Amino acid sequence: MATINDNYLKLKAGYLFPEIARRVGAFAEANPDAPIIKLGIGDVTEPLPQACRVAILKAVEEMGDRSSFKGYGPEQGYLWLREKIAAHDFHSRGCDIDASEIFVSDGSKCDTGNILDIFGKDNSIAVTDPVYPVYVDTNVMAGHTGSVNDDGKYEGLVYLPMTADNNFTAPIPDAKVDLIYLCFPNNPTGATATKTDLKKWVDYAKSNGSIILFDAAYEAFITDPDLPHSIYEIEGAKDCAIEFRSFSKNAGFTGTRCALTVVPKSLTAKASDGSDVELHKLWNRRQSTKFNGVSYIVQRGAEAVYSEEGQAQIQELIRFYLDNASIICTKLQEASISVYGGVNAPYVWVKTPDGLTSWDFFDKLLQACNVVGTPGSGFGAAGEGYFRISAFNSRENVEEAMNRITATFKG
Ligand code: MLT
Repeated sequence: MATINDNYLKLKAGYLFPEIARRVGAFAEANPDAPIIKLGIGDVTEPLPQACRVAILKAVEEMGDRSSFKGYGPEQGYLWLREKIAAHDFHSRGCDIDASEIFVSDGSKCDTGNILDIFGKDNSIAVTDPVYPVYVDTNVMAGHTGSVNDDGKYEGLVYLPMTADNNFTAPIPDAKVDLIYLCFPNNPTGATATKTDLKKWVDYAKSNGSIILFDAAYEAFITDPDLPHSIYEIEGAKDCAIEFRSFSKNAGFTGTRCALTVVPKSLTAKASDGSDVELHKLWNRRQSTKFNGVSYIVQRGAEAVYSEEGQAQIQELIRFYLDNASIICTKLQEASISVYGGVNAPYVWVKTPDGLTSWDFFDKLLQACNVVGTPGSGFGAAGEGYFRISAFNSRENVEEAMNRITATFKG
């Protein structure tokens, strides 16, 4: 008789966003005329930049001609894209990342989960609380945790609380951990990390032989010139960090799919015989075996992000969503609701009013305002009493949603 991976049975009910979709679906079925506005999942709404569309169309034409048709591409991504990424995203910020250290992929969600393939089973793992649930759930699936307790915390994980009290910075753990997930600008709190904050992490990782899994999917939303966009802006990070980036949120590729992961060649971890092994080699081996690369057409679209027009167009998109975030913050503050984030990030982290729990606030917003957000407790125990509002929507919807919320909560 075939057996299952029992670790899946330890997972809490549904993955957060499908669970929200299920609840919203039930509400919509019962209230078919309700004008629901979704500010829950961080999914972009504005069209793909024109530069990307033109490049994609051209690539489609090339695929229609025998002389320029492409079959399997390199599993790591085409060099012309990796070189542009290296130059634009890293060299321009003083980070010494070579194109060969960049792996193009179909998403940071997949990569942050898949990266566990190359790590051992006995690593101690730290996550922030609240946290992007993928980091936790993929560790549960891989058997790196025990069961979940009543607070929603898994036995065996080290949780680093990010709260208003510590200004949503990730506290350095007292004990030694082997793998540390960090995400800045942060999902869900919208908080950012300074170079000083990241330097503390790099110093910690280097002195403990830890690896930082740094999710920079929202770096394009940083407007403060003093904030680092990449962990490699910190000296020594190439010896202790893997970085994940994405075209999803800056260039609207959530449905098009393209991302990248940087695994520096200087990065090593221990084999069970005590020898040092290059993680780059392992990730390359993993990707070559389990992944056939992102489509040529999509990589051409991603390449266009780095053209002059592409850069201007994505800056416009980013500005648009940041202006939405600013409207959300201003309107909620006018209704005496406390907000965090939303300045260098597309997420606004809201303190639920009147002491409501995260899910009670979710229900109230859905029923009274027909607005969907994400309950903070879905991101971890320390998210209880908070609520995430995403700035990814049309201006009209954001303004309408805020008018409804302020009308409900002002009085
Ligand atoms: C979110 O809403 O947290 C994001 O859309 C999730 C993701 O990018 O996978």
